[in-house]
Amino acid sequence: MTLTQRTANAARLAEQAVVRCRKLASFSEDVGSLRRTFLSPPMRDVHREIGTWLAPLGMKTRIDAVGNLRAIYPTFAPSAPRLLIGSHLDTVPNAGIYDGMLGVVLAVALLEGLEGQHLPYAIEVVGFSEEEGVRFGIPFIGSRALVGRIDDALLEKADASGVSVRNAIEQFGLDPAEIPHAVIDKDVCAYIEFHIEQGPVLENLAMPLGVVEAIAGQTRMDFVFTGRANHAGTTPMNLRFDAMAGAAEWIIAVERTAKSISDLVATVGSVNAKPGATNVIAGEVRATLDVRHSKDDHRSRAVEQFTHSAQEIARSRGLSISTTTRLNQPAVPMSATLTAQIEHAIGDGCVPHRMASGAGHDAMILAEKLPSAMIFLRTPNGVSHDPAESVSVADLAKAIECGLQLLHQLSSHSLFQPRTPSA
Ligand code: GLV
Ligand code: MN
Ligand code: MN
Repeated sequence: MTLTQRTANAARLAEQAVVRCRKLASFSEDVGSLRRTFLSPPMRDVHREIGTWLAPLGMKTRIDAVGNLRAIYPTFAPSAPRLLIGSHLDTVPNAGIYDGMLGVVLAVALLEGLEGQHLPYAIEVVGFSEEEGVRFGIPFIGSRALVGRIDDALLEKADASGVSVRNAIEQFGLDPAEIPHAVIDKDVCAYIEFHIEQGPVLENLAMPLGVVEAIAGQTRMDFVFTGRANHAGTTPMNLRFDAMAGAAEWIIAVERTAKSISDLVATVGSVNAKPGATNVIAGEVRATLDVRHSKDDHRSRAVEQFTHSAQEIARSRGLSISTTTRLNQPAVPMSATLTAQIEHAIGDGCVPHRMASGAGHDAMILAEKLPSAMIFLRTPNGVSHDPAESVSVADLAKAIECGLQLLHQLSSHSLFQPRTPSA
């Protein structure tokens, strides 16, 4: 294929990728905006739709026991290893159309870009069922299943309507007893994920693609401030135990402390007050906390500070406080080998930029078991987790060209050679 044909094919696949992301975004729990949480009904439409793209490639789609979409593009080489390429299919509320979905759409585009050619290794497309942590407050349920990290405690966690992870799996028609079969087998040799950057770094550098060196660690917690609900009209200001005012003071303290620690980000993204009426002093406030840093000790120290300040504020206001840690995920380096390969593949068409990811990704879970790596696409205005999220068709075409170059490059890499049967 000539260079002009390669570029024209990448441009065509890039246009198609945008159309496909829009199509997946039409499958939503909410009318007029995109929300698709773990095993919600629209996830079935997503599975069906992606299945129609994979069928012409001769690929059969299966849904594993936690709802991950999986489909293998085979190789004809005996004892060949298998590369996983994918991302997640769930979204945050009022989401953009690229976070997660784009990585799955690009995986399919790369297989189409092979134009019927098979490589010396197989490729498995994975669409993870849950990465954001919206429904159960715990992220990465999909990728945890692949590394064998779904335990009974996780299965018993309940969503806001009291439905457990186990029930959600059963209600979707899947069998929790089959979860062990979702674990990656010995043939799987690596994981690669394409994702929008979700920040402004590449745009500021005027670079279309980045290669991720490490993913920042994150802690997610719930803080519950408990005071005393009472009448808003009859209770004098000095005789109140207002959980809302305590939570508000703490939220400002979190922001102040986070600003004082270099490279730390901390967010109170959701607050729920009970009983939740204009004329009732809040008796209980549940607030979430999300803390991230590329250095785990900096993150742990900050979490201690935030917890201490919640205790101090509660004490000074006669409130009580309880905390629950939902996630304590260390920072994860990406595979140096794959990162170098990606850098080389990007370098064919544009200058690669090495960077850290502040967002969490399934790659940080897969990295526990496999060499894993990520390619970032420039995100216009650095906007993500919002309907304004976007990506340029030209950058998508560059990502596809880089991805195809990478797949061919890996054909001769030692990690992707046939396995010699062990004695
Ligand atoms: C995933 O989007 C995250 O919160 O990092
Ligand atoms: Mn996200
Ligand atoms: Mn994502």
